[in-house]
Amino acid sequence: MIVSGSTSQALAGALAAELDEPLASVDSDRFPDGELLASVPGFDADRAILVTSTTSSDAHIELLQLQDAVSEAGASEVITVVPYMGYGRQDKAFATGDPISARAVARAISTGTDQVLTVNPHEPAVCEFFEPTAVAVDAAGLLAEPLPADLEEPVFLSPDAGAVGIAETVRDAYGTGEVDYFEKTRHSGTEVEIAPSDVDVTDRDVVVTDDIIATGSTMSEAISVLGERGVGRVYVTCIHPLLARTAYTRLAAAGVEEIYGTDTIERAASAVSVAPAVAAALEEL
Ligand code: R5P
Repeated sequence: MIVSGSTSQALAGALAAELDEPLASVDSDRFPDGELLASVPGFDADRAILVTSTTSSDAHIELLQLQDAVSEAGASEVITVVPYMGYGRQDKAFATGDPISARAVARAISTGTDQVLTVNPHEPAVCEFFEPTAVAVDAAGLLAEPLPADLEEPVFLSPDAGAVGIAETVRDAYGTGEVDYFEKTRHSGTEVEIAPSDVDVTDRDVVVTDDIIATGSTMSEAISVLGERGVGRVYVTCIHPLLARTAYTRLAAAGVEEIYGTDTIERAASAVSVAPAVAAALEEL
């Protein structure tokens, strides 16, 4: 039986259809003191597949409650799908006294499940924080699907060297194009500096590809740099379209043609579903 957290309802529904499994009803309530209560009143299955992107602290708590609720209801196997793993970018202690937050949340999630699946974690190494090691599904190839078929001499760029593998996968799935990356320097949570890549982008269509768009600082800066270099159209793709705060507006103001993401985070930009890829990974467990 598929059990959806509040953040991943459309994806859970798509996954239920892919796997031909029933979708459980979930109740979600909040006590006057602010505490959550998520429950699965009609749960009746041996195996529970929970689907929740942990985009907020509440989503984390809801996931832990749902894991416990299905166990209480008699599930003998619990599989947890975390399409977007919140706190995954805090994968090390950045200063003395800092926690390794990704490890802390992974440990908490691991206590209530037999297996975890996630999609394109920021660093694959975070999978090892789970016990047992989480399975990482690579959804990057899906990002080529919504792109227009008539891209002019396309260039697939990642904002930094770390995401160039995603750009390569999108280019391979698209079928043609050059791949390169910018040099990025982050000055703060919302300020980044992007140095242009060597590729000549004049009158060429560019697809900027990253694992996540959070505040949009990285992407808006990349689009601005491209604009100064006589680029054709600029499309932006990412696995996780978090698009926090004013990210949409920043990208629109910078001149983006379209923003395409997956449904690991359910947003207006979720142009393609990871459900088939996650279903295939579940069937291989
Ligand atoms: C960083 O290494 C990531 O790959 C993203 O580039 C970054 O997290 C995006 O964040 P923002 O949208 O806030 O610039």
